[in-house]
Amino acid sequence: MSLPSFASTSPSLVLTFLFVFFILSGTSSCLVIHANTTRPHRQLSVNYYAKSCPQIEQLVGSVTSQKFKESPVSGPATIRLLFHDCFVGGCDASILIASKPGSKELAEKDAEDNRELKVEGFETVKKAKELVETKCPGVVSCADILVIAARDYVHLAGGPYYQVKKGRWDGKISTASSVAFNIPRANSTVDQLIKLFNSKGLTTQDLVALSGAHTIGFAHCKHFVARLYSYRGMAQPDPEMDPKLLHALRMYCPNFGGNSDIVAPFDATTPFVFDHAYYGNLQNKMGLLASDQALALDPRTRPIVQDLAKDKQKFFQAFVNAMDKLSLVKVVRGKRHGEKRRDCSMHM
Ligand code: HEM
Repeated sequence: MSLPSFASTSPSLVLTFLFVFFILSGTSSCLVIHANTTRPHRQLSVNYYAKSCPQIEQLVGSVTSQKFKESPVSGPATIRLLFHDCFVGGCDASILIASKPGSKELAEKDAEDNRELKVEGFETVKKAKELVETKCPGVVSCADILVIAARDYVHLAGGPYYQVKKGRWDGKISTASSVAFNIPRANSTVDQLIKLFNSKGLTTQDLVALSGAHTIGFAHCKHFVARLYSYRGMAQPDPEMDPKLLHALRMYCPNFGGNSDIVAPFDATTPFVFDHAYYGNLQNKMGLLASDQALALDPRTRPIVQDLAKDKQKFFQAFVNAMDKLSLVKVVRGKRHGEKRRDCSMHM
């Protein structure tokens, strides 16, 4: 078993680490996987911009492929950004709004649970939007660009390519106070996770498939340090963590006084490849967050973990279906409820 390496969020360390893995991995399939579970959405479609901005996918694609080369952490950062956007008030790019100086209420992005969203995700959408505005001004929503960019990064990291529906408008509301109860926590129970996902129209199968996004990316020590030293308030580590992983994580994440910038990879075996290793890791007690590991323990989710651990193509299909559903959560349409922002960080 290869033990995980760690990086501080210092870009140089993360990058060195990332590039080594890119050289070792870097496979991506050209096959397009189609979502097969969603009911047809009334107004969104794959060809939504066929007339108004036919080159939309290429424009966004040129930015994502460039960013991915320069800064591969942009991938997980953008995928997580989409998740946090969609779970709070729907996929309406409300996560991109900057708080107004002097305003009483902060915007979503400044909520405590969003503080760790990496700047690379925001930068990707900003850059793509700027490019799109030069070719198709005032036509494409920031919400659609975020969905396209997240898809691109899944593929660039070796995951499936799938077509995305477009036609979202951007939301007019972004409030920090709506974030906490809509975003799952590292110590959420499976019960809480299932309920939260169900409240967004997502099934238990979708929960397990989407959690597979943790096949790439990193988490800060504070999200799992209790598992290392004082699980459930006892002076014991979590018995559901592999002893070698525990040992490695303890070296980087001390119980007290550690560097709060240190991060560990979610997938200790192939941290930069979008594959199904996440599920095999869970079966081997190598989940990073308690909420990840819990999926392999609960009788409602364990059979799904087993299923997806066995077959990468099955994971890809389940992930594509679930991403399709995630990116349709509470979509905004039309001028009454929506806007098409020129600058994604500012309401019109
Ligand atoms: C099921 C419940 C989930 C919980 C409890 C959870 C929790 C977390 C936490 C605590 C982090 C670490 C943040 C940090 O320390 O910077 C994280 C990172 C991440 N999450 Fe989740 N997450 C969940 C589901 C999802 C879903 C559904 C997706 C996407 C479809 C997702 C994508 C990601 C990605 C890609 C990262 C890595 C971000 C980066 O490296 O920049 N997560 N998540």
